[in-house]
Amino acid sequence: MTFGYFDDENKEYVITRPDTPLPWINYLGCQDYFGIISNTAGGYSFYRDARLRRITRYRYNNVPFDLGGRYIYLRDDESGEFWSPSWQPTRHDLENYTCRHGMGYTLIGSRYNGIAAHTNYFVPLDENLEIWQLTITNQRSKRASLSVFSSIEFCLWDAQDDATNFQRNFSIGQVEVEDGVIYHKTEYRERRDHFAYFACSGKVEAFDTQRDAFVGPYRSWDKPVALERGRLANSVAHGWAPIGAHQVKAELAPGETRQIIFVLGYHENPRDQKFDPPDSQILNKRTVKPVIAKYLDFAHVDAAFQNLRRYWNGLLGILQVDTPDVHTNRMVNIWNAYQCMATFNMSRSASFYESGIGRGLGFRDSNQDLLGFVHMVPARARERILDLAATQLPTGGAYHQYQPLTKRGNNDVGGNFNDDPHWLILGVAAYLKETGDWGILDEPVPYDNHPGSEQPLYEHLERSFKYTLDRLGPHGLPLIGRADWNDCLNLNCFSDTPGQSFQTTTNKDGKVAESVFIAGLFVLAGRELADITQRRGLTEEAKDYLAQVAKMEDTIRQHGWDGEWFLRAYDDFGRKIGSKECLEGKIFIETQGFCVLTDIGLDDGLAVKSMESVSKYLATEHGIILQQPAYSRYYLELGEISSYPPGYKENAGIFCHNNPWVMIAETRVGNGDRAHDYYSRINPSAREPISDLHRCEPYVYAQMIAGRDAPTYGEAKNSWLTGTAAWNYYAITQWILGIRTSYDGLQISPVIPKSWRGFNATRIFRGVTYHITIERAGEGNHVALKVDGVPIKGDTVPPPGDGRKEVSVKGALT
Ligand code: GLC
Ligand code: GLC
Repeated sequence: MTFGYFDDENKEYVITRPDTPLPWINYLGCQDYFGIISNTAGGYSFYRDARLRRITRYRYNNVPFDLGGRYIYLRDDESGEFWSPSWQPTRHDLENYTCRHGMGYTLIGSRYNGIAAHTNYFVPLDENLEIWQLTITNQRSKRASLSVFSSIEFCLWDAQDDATNFQRNFSIGQVEVEDGVIYHKTEYRERRDHFAYFACSGKVEAFDTQRDAFVGPYRSWDKPVALERGRLANSVAHGWAPIGAHQVKAELAPGETRQIIFVLGYHENPRDQKFDPPDSQILNKRTVKPVIAKYLDFAHVDAAFQNLRRYWNGLLGILQVDTPDVHTNRMVNIWNAYQCMATFNMSRSASFYESGIGRGLGFRDSNQDLLGFVHMVPARARERILDLAATQLPTGGAYHQYQPLTKRGNNDVGGNFNDDPHWLILGVAAYLKETGDWGILDEPVPYDNHPGSEQPLYEHLERSFKYTLDRLGPHGLPLIGRADWNDCLNLNCFSDTPGQSFQTTTNKDGKVAESVFIAGLFVLAGRELADITQRRGLTEEAKDYLAQVAKMEDTIRQHGWDGEWFLRAYDDFGRKIGSKECLEGKIFIETQGFCVLTDIGLDDGLAVKSMESVSKYLATEHGIILQQPAYSRYYLELGEISSYPPGYKENAGIFCHNNPWVMIAETRVGNGDRAHDYYSRINPSAREPISDLHRCEPYVYAQMIAGRDAPTYGEAKNSWLTGTAAWNYYAITQWILGIRTSYDGLQISPVIPKSWRGFNATRIFRGVTYHITIERAGEGNHVALKVDGVPIKGDTVPPPGDGRKEVSVKGALT
């Protein structure tokens, strides 16, 4: 069952009924001002940091799940009836309800009682504000006398404090209203130099800024007392809960259309010019007024919207593909790339499953996210890499997270996740291959943000590598620390106290438990580092790295292989995890995917065996399960993984982030059919027909799909902010379609299904546009390339020497 359809032409998903199984959301903004918006206009906005600069209030895990947002009400002033064209909060039986989630905008509308109303919500580029562009048409045969009401609930900036500190917060709310613009200035009198405002292009008949005056006691947003009364009360909030609500009258002749724009924004004043006059307590509005005036202008708003569309077309235009599979095309060309930009902007901070007040940016997560967005925003990727590296510790280890506003490592969570540092090497390698910007390696970057500790970025990579060599366990495998990629495999935790964090509790000294996953990661990162080092002319060092890598490969073969698949780890007692000897958790996905994508076991058959075992024991119709059999009870020595009921999250859920590792691994063993089949099983677009089971958005990946041990097998959860986005994008584009960035040029090495006749693609790479056509001439994966008609050796297209900006590449697969 579906709840809408894809409009690929417009790069939109069109939701055609409001009661989606879960709120289906979109993101507004792509620089500093952001919003989350659901298909019924729920959600909130913030400036840069979802916790510290929350602009509007949102109550997570509400009843209903999604309540509170950017609500517009229409009221028929003759009958007194009122409704909301976005369905929530009044939930009327609307005609023609549609929500078009597009690239950086969401257009929601419907018709009710002959009145059509649509609102386009978006954040203009380079501005700290959002637009609600409302268009109302009277489709009745007679005049309509309407009132239009806007509503938002201001937050007190720090969302955590806002949700807990009522003894203070109910007494500090302050607003000003001038020319119909509502200014929210709570705490501005003291240490803030920023405020929010809410403006309207129509003639403001009346306003409300005190929540109780608008909603009324003992009521909710579905039946505000002000709407029943038909008139706002011009309330001015002193303490309690400041809101913004405008009332505008709309008298519409039959067929008449009217547009009203609402602008919600964030503004900063210079510290010494906060007030006007200077010795007063009145907001200085001199610099904000021109911004407001600009965006209450219809023509300007239209231009800003076109500008936003051009921006996204430009970003997505860097790679466009045309394959025989519509789901591949749609995800690669539109939604997966778009989701990668969301993970770049949000990391794991703010979605409908991440509250925005918890985690900052993960060191591991953000480095991996790079794989998905580096080609679209290379300059910002560069900045991200340098920020991440600056939180690295002198040991080579890393803070597990850092805060985007301060760019400091998060002390509460600390470090000792022993995989973390290697992701930096992989992130930097991806950046170098995309951009060829070798200069980044010489950038001085501090450790732990300590002034004076700056060393070239290259040295940070060396320390990342050495970090593991300094921490090898009894089998010569890397010690796991608090956890590796799997945050929930906590082998040194041994927690029996309710409420303790599995990630930060460490009861063992960590000298025994080892990770085969980190070993595989070490091999991959070590090879990348050796390559970079070689290209810097440091031949001896490069050799040394490769020797360490070879040694680790041997160790994996000797102590990390279980006969049919790769082991997962050794626990604190030195016992195997992920082995046929185990009663539960006999086989794990991570090491199968990661060791094989790193080419371990390609030459001696282990890789093929490992892939066969994945297919036999872990693959399901809904994706590949993390481990089997699921843990049926809590194991003190395993930690959080066994805290989840079977089939969920890391305990035998389909954890979509690691499925692409197997896809890439399948391309390494040459099995394009299986690689693409696995890709399709979790492809959200391909799962659209089972939306009632999948439940999350059909246009973006979710972190998890419940595994076959779960009663809700096939149900997705935690959509949007997941490493799944980057890894799937990387797997399909660089390994299955095989359009791969490399130091020496654009490599083209597809491993596609046998049944495909070929595909076309356009890729802009280092300023050159490559028009790629691949045709199947046989069943295999051997590619013969012609560049502008001339055959070349190998599968890497070197940059054109003569300054050409367009290159045609034809490939025959045999
Ligand atoms: C979450 C974390 C990520 C981790 C994964 C597996 O997605 O953000 O860092 O690797 O879970 O535990
Ligand atoms: C929880 C989640 C896991 C995530 C971790 C990090 O344990 O299950 O996916 O990586 O939190 O905060």
